[in-house]
Amino acid sequence: SKRLTLGDLATKKQAGEPIVMVTAYDFPSAQIVEEAGVDMVLVGDSAAMTVLGYDSTVPVTIDEMLMLTKAVRRGLTKPLLVGDLPFGSYEASDELALATAQRFIKEAGVDLIKIERGGTTVDRARALVNAGIPVVGHVGLTPQTATSLGGYRAQGRTADAALAVIDDALALQDAGVSVLVIEAVPSEVTAALAPLLRIPLIGIGAGADADGQVLVFHDLLGIYAGGVAKFVKRYADVRGVSVAGVQAYADEVRDGVYPAPEHGYGMPEAEVARLRE
Ligand code: KIV
Ligand code: NA
Repeated sequence: SKRLTLGDLATKKQAGEPIVMVTAYDFPSAQIVEEAGVDMVLVGDSAAMTVLGYDSTVPVTIDEMLMLTKAVRRGLTKPLLVGDLPFGSYEASDELALATAQRFIKEAGVDLIKIERGGTTVDRARALVNAGIPVVGHVGLTPQTATSLGGYRAQGRTADAALAVIDDALALQDAGVSVLVIEAVPSEVTAALAPLLRIPLIGIGAGADADGQVLVFHDLLGIYAGGVAKFVKRYADVRGVSVAGVQAYADEVRDGVYPAPEHGYGMPEAEVARLRE
């Protein structure tokens, strides 16, 4: 099972075969998504919220993301691996973007680098592409700058706003990005954009007209308590299963059921006798 390539994604897009992308944040989740047969894995800065407990993606650092991304790399062979540059690690200059992207490639072995927004990020994307780094763009709802977008809410809901999202997408395509993520926009925006793109378009909360979909691992598996965005579909209740498992363990320890004799190590009779002397 050799590593997928950008050529394989292009082939899927051409064939109308949906591209499946999901996030992962550590070694076991990487092994799980690989075994499930996904095409692309994103170590999203959503890790800030899903695994580190911050209340937005803004605080997560390069070093925190690198630790998680390296763990995913060790668990993955076939899917394409995307590193997500955290807030503040690329926006200020092409030099900063290049230096940070190169760390994710050298230290964590990612195949592509994802950065958020249009605007000045288009220049950063072009600089990375010119330096030989494959880039994933991200338009629509961009969580790193959600405050300036009015919070975690759908974008592009007026014709003008939709055209602004489409302009960002086309500017990123012109800058040479390899893949584009579009998040939380009306399905009509995706439907209008998709025919204008040569590159694979991956939707999240963006309807069915993209070339593929991405969801957050913890969202689709139901790993945490609390509400999720409208676009999330829960395919499992891993939190429920996990709480029940730990509860069963706690009950058995308290009831003296665990550990049973078969969970213990033995000692030769002669040694037991000597021990008792
Ligand atoms: O960080 C993340 O998980 C993402 C995806 C939702 C696209 O950026
Ligand atoms: Na992200």
